[in-house]
Amino acid sequence: MCGIIGYIGDRSVVPVLLYGLQRLEYRGYDSAGISVLDKDSGRIVVEKKVGKIKDLQEHLWDKKIKGCVGLGHSRWATHGEPTEVNAHPHTSHSGEFAVVHNGIIENFAKLKEELQAKGYQFKSDTDTEVIAHLFEDLYNGDILSTALEVAKRLEGAYAVGVISLKEPDKIIAIKKGSPIVIGLGKGENFLASDIPAVLEYTRDFIILDDGEVAVITKDSVDVYNLNGEKVEKKVLKVDWDTASAEKGGYKHFMQKEIHEQPKTIADTIAGFLSSIDEGLFETLKDTSRLYIIACGTSYHAGLVGKFWIEKFARIPVEVDYASEYRYRDRVIDDKTVVLGISQSGETADTRFALLDAKKEGAKTVALVNVVGSSLARESDYVLYTYCGPEIGVAATKTFTAQLTALLLLSLEAGLRKGSISPQFYQEAHKRLSDIPAKVEKILESEDFIKDLAYKYMNASDFLFLGRNLNYPIALEGALKLKEISYIHAEGYPAGEMKHGPIALIDEKLPVVCIAPRDRFYEKMVSNIQEVKARKGRIITVATDGDSDIKSLSEDTVYIPETEDYLYPILTAIPMQILSYHIASLLGKDVDQPRNLAKTVTVE
Ligand code: F6R
Repeated sequence: MCGIIGYIGDRSVVPVLLYGLQRLEYRGYDSAGISVLDKDSGRIVVEKKVGKIKDLQEHLWDKKIKGCVGLGHSRWATHGEPTEVNAHPHTSHSGEFAVVHNGIIENFAKLKEELQAKGYQFKSDTDTEVIAHLFEDLYNGDILSTALEVAKRLEGAYAVGVISLKEPDKIIAIKKGSPIVIGLGKGENFLASDIPAVLEYTRDFIILDDGEVAVITKDSVDVYNLNGEKVEKKVLKVDWDTASAEKGGYKHFMQKEIHEQPKTIADTIAGFLSSIDEGLFETLKDTSRLYIIACGTSYHAGLVGKFWIEKFARIPVEVDYASEYRYRDRVIDDKTVVLGISQSGETADTRFALLDAKKEGAKTVALVNVVGSSLARESDYVLYTYCGPEIGVAATKTFTAQLTALLLLSLEAGLRKGSISPQFYQEAHKRLSDIPAKVEKILESEDFIKDLAYKYMNASDFLFLGRNLNYPIALEGALKLKEISYIHAEGYPAGEMKHGPIALIDEKLPVVCIAPRDRFYEKMVSNIQEVKARKGRIITVATDGDSDIKSLSEDTVYIPETEDYLYPILTAIPMQILSYHIASLLGKDVDQPRNLAKTVTVE
C-alpha cells in the first residue's frame, strides 16, 4: 500500500524520485507526488497528480525543479478519495515541513481536532496531514527530538518520511508497522518502502525496525529508538540484480515473471537446501499441530502445503486466512508451530496474526520472498523463496516457489521424523529437480493457451475445478483470473460441485478442470462427465498423451507427466498463462489491476 521514496545527495533529485516511484508503483497507483527542497526558490516545491507515475512524469516535464533533497509517494487511498489534494506529499501550515506516509494513523481524528483548535487549517481529507502539522507544532529547534515527540503521539501503523526547510540537510524516517529501508550510497543516501526502488544505486541497506527513527544526511545515517538512544544497525547486502526489476522485452512484468519460473523454482531448491536450520526441524519433530496462516495466493500455497506436510511429515496442519485466524479462539500450546507465508513479508493480516500467536507461546516460522521483511525479522525461524523482486501485482513465480519450499519443508521434516525413508527422500528430490524443465515445457504451450484465451475471453463467468492437491490450484486459477481480468470466477473442489455450484453450469460457462493422471483421475473424469451432461464448456489440464480426456473436452492443455504429489507445481502454470492472456487481450492493466496493491499493510 503506498510507496515512499526519498533521496539526499548531489544528484538532481527529480529523476531519482521518479525512477523509484516507477519501481514502487505496484504498491499503490491512484495518485503520486513529489516534494523537493528547491535550490532556486528556497522553498519546498510540491507537485502531485491523480493517476499513474507516467502522468506525474508528464506533468513535471516543463517544470524546472532544481534540488538534491526530496521525497516521493505513490498512493493507494485509505483516508480520502484519490484526488490531487489528497495525494502526498502533505505540507505543514507554513509549508516548512513536507511528509510522505504509508499506513494508517488511527488517532488522526483526535489529533486533527487538537491541531484545528490551535488554528491549523487542513487542506486534505487524509490522516497523513496531521503528521505535517504536528511536526510544525512540536518543532523545538531539533528535528530529531521533534520526530521522537511526533512518533509518541501517533497511533497505528506507519512509515513516514519528512523533509524540512528548518534543517534542509536531513531526511527523517519514522517506522512503526509499515516497511522502510534505507539505501546506503557514497555521498548520497536513499529512503524507500522497499529494496527494488533503489537497487539501481546501491546493494547496501539498513532495514528500520518498529519504533525507530532515522536521521539521514548525504554522508550519514543515524538510527534511534523512541527514547532517543542510538541503535547500531547491521548493513544488509542484497544480491538481487537490477534486471529483475525490468520487463526484459516482455509486455508485462507478470508475463516475464511467469517465464522466470524454471529458474526461480531451481533457485528455491538450491537456496532451501543450502540454508537448512536444524533448530526448526528439532521444533517440528515434536510439534503437536502446525497452523499455516496467509492471505490470497500465499494462502493457496498453504493449502497445498497442508497435504504435503500431513502426508510426508505426519504433522496435523490447519490452514487459515490470517485475517480470520487472528480473531478466532485458536488453541495454542508450547508445542504449537505457526507458519506465516507471505511474498512481501509485510502483509498486515499475516504479520499481526503471527505476532499474536507468538505472544501466546507458539513457535513461529516465516516463509517469505523479501529479504529483511518484517515477517522475517519477527519470526523465530525464516525460510525464503528465491525469486528476486516480484513486480506484477498478481503473484506467479513466488507461488510456485512457495510450493517448492513447502514441499522441501515437508520432506526434511518427514526424513527427520522417520515418516519417510531416506530412499523416498532421495527419489522425491530427484523428481523435484526435474520440475524446472517440465515447467519450461509447459511455457512452450503459451501460444496455444493464448488462442484459448482469445476464444474464451468474452465469458462473463468461469468455474475452476480440481481435487485433492489440485483443488487449491483451482482456487488459485480463479483468483488469478478475477484479479487481473475482472471476470467473475469460482474455484471449487470438483467433488463438491454437485452440492451447489453445478446449478451454474450451462452452455456458456467455461469450466477449467484440472485432471492430471493422478490417483483422483477417475473421480475427476466422473466430475467432468457431470459438467458435460449439463453442456458446460470444458477446458481440461491433462497429462501428456491422455487422449481419453481430450474426447470429453472442448479444449485440452497438456502438461508433462510427474509424480502425483508434484502436479500442483505444474498445473499452476497454465492457470497463470490463461488468466494473463485473457486480461492482456481484454486490454486490462495486467501489472496494476484496479483497486489492488501488491503489499497490503493495512488490516
Ligand atoms: C494474488 C496476490 C495476493 C497476495 C496477498 C498476500 O495474486 O498477489 O492475493 O497473495 O495479498 O500477499 P503476501 O504474499 O505478500 O502476504
